[in-house]
Amino acid sequence: MGSLRAVSDDVRVGCAVDPASLRTDTDYRRTVASEFDAITAENAMKWGRLAADEGAYDFADADDVARFAERHDMYVRGHTLVWHRMYPEWLRPWTRSEAETERLLRDHVQTVAGRYRGCVDAWDVVNEAVADDGGLRETQWLNALGPEYIDRAFEYAAGVSDADLFYNDYGADGLSEKSDEVYDLVADLVAREVPIDGVGLQLHVFEETVPPADVAANVERLTELGLDVHITELDVGIGAAVPDEEAQADYYREVVGAATDAGVDTVVTWGVDDGQSWLPERGFGEAPLLFDESFERKPAYRAVREALGE
Ligand code: G3I
Repeated sequence: MGSLRAVSDDVRVGCAVDPASLRTDTDYRRTVASEFDAITAENAMKWGRLAADEGAYDFADADDVARFAERHDMYVRGHTLVWHRMYPEWLRPWTRSEAETERLLRDHVQTVAGRYRGCVDAWDVVNEAVADDGGLRETQWLNALGPEYIDRAFEYAAGVSDADLFYNDYGADGLSEKSDEVYDLVADLVAREVPIDGVGLQLHVFEETVPPADVAANVERLTELGLDVHITELDVGIGAAVPDEEAQADYYREVVGAATDAGVDTVVTWGVDDGQSWLPERGFGEAPLLFDESFERKPAYRAVREALGE
């Protein structure tokens, strides 16, 4: 059996990575390089990691991911420029003036998106700005700058980057009130000609499965707005949502098949192997990825290959 990245000419399959594991773990590095043709830094391009100290960026880890991607001819999803989590502690307390806060936002977006111009192919410009119970999430950015912070982030990124610019969220994968909210948000951005190119559906699956037909319908309506849609953080925890490895594989097959049939050309899993995943340590399900802890291919791995037409 060849590698996953060779299965489809039309669909890229990626993974979120940890730069330290890329540097030190031979099995991890070999798996990422040989199996995937897209990559995301799970944390290394987040603001809090890049600029832990005020006024000083440390790009070492993020650059490692970028170089690895270049060496292995991988599509790069940059994650993420503006988020309400994993920002530097020095941004607290949020008592700066509106002008100063906007300057910080602008400088950050321009610095990071500018640095990776020509390397990052798609940026998650704004992440998780919609609240779970409707409306915009009450973030520090919303409080300081109003809803326009979203426009500004896309505009600043567009000014320095040639990447496709995405809005990315969770719980908005299928058809739900939250996915309607995300749809309305991005439709409004498109209508006002804010420079957005796509929507990332994270597709973390652990409480219950999202019907694949609903994912397809959501992809189709977003595509009709003229936007690209990527599956950006796919994982399927064994537990409440799927009872075992076989059911997990069936779900991977169905949901990846439905999404790609509906026009998704990039599917990224949120990690590489079951030994390193954010889900189990938070009690959200077990063994959610395509490779087990020993980097052996799981039934889910073969199911994704089948979904891509093998
Ligand atoms: O690296 C430090 C370690 O030195 C320290 O000892 C330890 C103590 O808590 O923390 C470690 O950092 C943690 C990091 O993950 C690496 O494991 C952070 O505390 C923890 O907050 C961080 O969680 C990440 C989370 O985003 C917050 O940034 C997860 O790895 C990452 O999978 C998760 O990813 C998010 C996406 O960005 C957005 N969508 C949801 C997704 C899952 O929550």
